[in-house]
Amino acid sequence: MAANPKPDAPVPDILAHAAEVASSAPSIHNSQPWRWEIAGDRLELYAERSRQLTATDPEGRMLTISCGASLHHARLALAGWGWQARVDRLPDGDGDRLAVLQVEGAIPITAEAEQLLRTIAHRHTDRRPVANRPVPADALQALAAAAYAEGARLELLRTEQIDDLASATAHAAEIDAADPAIQTELSEWAGGEREEVGIPDEVIPSRPPQTNVASREFAGSGSLQIGDDHDKAASYGLLFGDQDDQLSWLRGGEALSALWLTAVRLGLGIMPISEPVEVPAGRQILRRTLAYLGWPYLAVRVGVPADDVEQPATPRLPTTETIHKQ
Ligand SMILES: Cc1cc2nc3c(=O)[nH]c(=O)nc-3n(C[C@H](O)[C@H](O)[C@H](O)COP(=O)(O)O)c2cc1C
Repeated sequence: MAANPKPDAPVPDILAHAAEVASSAPSIHNSQPWRWEIAGDRLELYAERSRQLTATDPEGRMLTISCGASLHHARLALAGWGWQARVDRLPDGDGDRLAVLQVEGAIPITAEAEQLLRTIAHRHTDRRPVANRPVPADALQALAAAAYAEGARLELLRTEQIDDLASATAHAAEIDAADPAIQTELSEWAGGEREEVGIPDEVIPSRPPQTNVASREFAGSGSLQIGDDHDKAASYGLLFGDQDDQLSWLRGGEALSALWLTAVRLGLGIMPISEPVEVPAGRQILRRTLAYLGWPYLAVRVGVPADDVEQPATPRLPTTETIHKQ
C-alpha cells in the first residue's frame, strides 16, 4: 500500500497517494472497475466500464458498490493523513463520473481514522470456514453502526432469515450455472494464476467449505487448504438501503468498506456474498427477508477467523492502469 505522503506534499501528490490506497479496495471478482483522475486539486472517481461484468452484473450494481468501497478507502486515506475532503457524489446526476473529492484543509487526525487506515493493508476476503466461536454482539452492533454512518443499513440475520439467504443463494447459483455467458465470465475472471485482475486459485478453497450459506462456486478448483469444520458460528448480515439506484449502490459500497475495516480492527473476517443480489429472483427473496423495508445490496458472512495462516494477497492492477493525471 502507498506510504503516507509528506505533510507538506503538493495537493496533487496527496491525491495520487489517496488513489493508490483506494486501489486496494475489494471489488466484484477483483475486477477493480474504477479509474481515478487527478485534475488539479480534484480527485475524480470514474466507473471503468471496460471491466464491468456485463453478464453477471448487467446493471452495474456490483461495479458501483466496488467503486463505493474504493471511494471510502480514498476518503479514509485523506482523513487518516489529516486532510478534510469535500465529496460530491454523482456530480453529473448520473453517468460514469461517480464522485469528486476536493481537499479543503487540514483537520486533526482522529484515532479511529488512523486505525482504520492501518487496517486496509490487513483486509482480505477469507473464504475459509470461520472458527467455532460466535461473534460478540457488541462487535456486530459496531459493524451495523459503521454501515449506518455511511448511509446504508446492516440487517443482522436471525436463523430463519439465514435460511432465506441460503435459499436465495442456492437459487442464484442454479441460475448462474445454467447461464453460459455467466459461466464464461466466471472462467475469465476466476481461477488459475492471476497477476493483475481476477481471483487466483490460491485464495479459492480447494473444496466446498461446510457452511449454512453456500459460497460462490468459482470456475475450476482452487488450491486454498481448508479445515473440516462447519461454519456454524458464523453470523450473516444483509447490507441494504432505501433505494436501488446508482447513488445508493455507491453509498452501499462505502458502507461495505467501513463495516469491513471495522471488522478487521475488531479481529473479525468478512466474506461478501453477492450472488443472490445479482439475479432478480434472489433480490425478491431478500426483499421479503427485509420485510420490504429496503433494497438489498450485498450479504456478508462475519466470523472469527479460524486460521492464523495468512493466505496470499489477491493481486492488483499497476496503478498506471487505474490512476491518471490530467
Ligand atoms: C461488490 C462485491 C461483491 C463480492 N462478491 C463476492 C462473492 O459473492 N463471493 C466471494 O467469495 N467474494 C466476493 N467479493 C470479494 C472479492 O472477490 C474480493 O474483494 C476481490 O477478489 C479482491 O480480493 P480481496 O478482498 O482479498 O482484496 C465481493 C466483493 C465486492 C466488493
